[in-house]
Amino acid sequence: MPDIKALYSDYVKTLDTYIMFKIKQRTVQLTPELVKKDRAPIMLSIGAPTTRPPEFVIDALRDALNEDEKHSYSTTKGERYFLEAAATRMKNRFGVSLNVDNGEVVSLIGSKEGLSAMFRAVINPSTNPKEQDIIMIPDPGYASYKEQIKTSGGLAYPIPLKPENNYMPNPYEVFEQLIKDGYNPEKVKAFVVNYPNNPLGVPATKEYLQKVVDFCYEKNILLVSDAAYVDMYFEGEEPPISILELPKAKDIAIEFHSLSKPYAMTGWRIGFACGNSDAVTILSKLKSTIDTGIFKAIQKAAAEILVSPVGDEYIEKVNKSYEERQNIMVQGLKDLGWDFSKINVPRATFYLWVPIPERYKTSVDFANDLLETSGVVIVPGSAFGKYGEGWVRMSITATKENIIKAVERMKKDGFYFNK
Ligand SMILES: Cc1ncc(COP(=O)(O)O)c(C=O)c1O
Repeated sequence: MPDIKALYSDYVKTLDTYIMFKIKQRTVQLTPELVKKDRAPIMLSIGAPTTRPPEFVIDALRDALNEDEKHSYSTTKGERYFLEAAATRMKNRFGVSLNVDNGEVVSLIGSKEGLSAMFRAVINPSTNPKEQDIIMIPDPGYASYKEQIKTSGGLAYPIPLKPENNYMPNPYEVFEQLIKDGYNPEKVKAFVVNYPNNPLGVPATKEYLQKVVDFCYEKNILLVSDAAYVDMYFEGEEPPISILELPKAKDIAIEFHSLSKPYAMTGWRIGFACGNSDAVTILSKLKSTIDTGIFKAIQKAAAEILVSPVGDEYIEKVNKSYEERQNIMVQGLKDLGWDFSKINVPRATFYLWVPIPERYKTSVDFANDLLETSGVVIVPGSAFGKYGEGWVRMSITATKENIIKAVERMKKDGFYFNK
């Protein structure tokens, strides 16, 4: 009998299924039972908008589909109209100038794909922890970073985001800690920042980001800025910045942008990376051996929404509605005993990050109990790194009605914070 598993590479054989898919599978499995007891699943787990994308972009796609030349292969780098629209967006929104002809912008099949290829481009694969190249990643942070780095043969070292450091840890101190932990500082290839952050919903100050730029510049470490949530912020907030606005950033940084969250286009799979031209060029070169770019009709429609005021109006409207839904969820949790004088209430993203009730040992225990008892699906904090234990992430992308229903069920089923 052949053994396919014996053929797996050392880098993928310990790979874990992506947490979001695991949660989905488990929810599907439990659905008949939950429906029977009037607890049909309410998804507060997904990191994706549930609203319809702007009609404008759907119409633009329909028009693009009628153009004959839109149906052939694109290029990995992306069509000129898309790259120019991305550059215009960066100029209009952040005041950042990018040169499309100088390889400072590349299209991505979503930022997840781009980040993974970027890690691959800088890691010399190894399975020996002493030999492995290191990528420093936020913890808690987007669950994909770690597995992407692992499958590329690298080592993910956590940058601890804690209330004590206002979620902005001093990069020099983290680097010192890495050395104290016995790792070779010469092996550090990249430093990842993600503000506003998934799952915490916290932003960073300009001063802090400048410190990170200076640190990376000084140490020759690639600064990877994941800007997936840069447009998701509430009214009255200072708009989150692009790292590329900062002096010296273009010498050392690459930034990943996504159309998924702001325009509810998660399934379209489109984003872009921009910044340092060497970093963008090697990313594009590596990708050219793997993919052949994005469907041109999607690029065309995406290009139009990126530069249209309709896109900005849409973002403003959805951000308002997230704030409204967040208020409902926060009030519900307050009624259930969560003490929000000690919990950061995000003014960005669409996540809530809250501690688990006192009677649970782990975030998985709480998330499982809430799912099995009440059909409310959330993500255990440990999925986002070791500093996420003791917390859970709730998405407020569900409808208002479903958020109200989720709170009602938690009350009925006794999910109080300290009872
Ligand atoms: C922090 C962060 N980065 C990147 C992504 C990937 O987004 P996409 O691949 O849809 O652009 C996500 C999606 O959840 C995310 O939360």
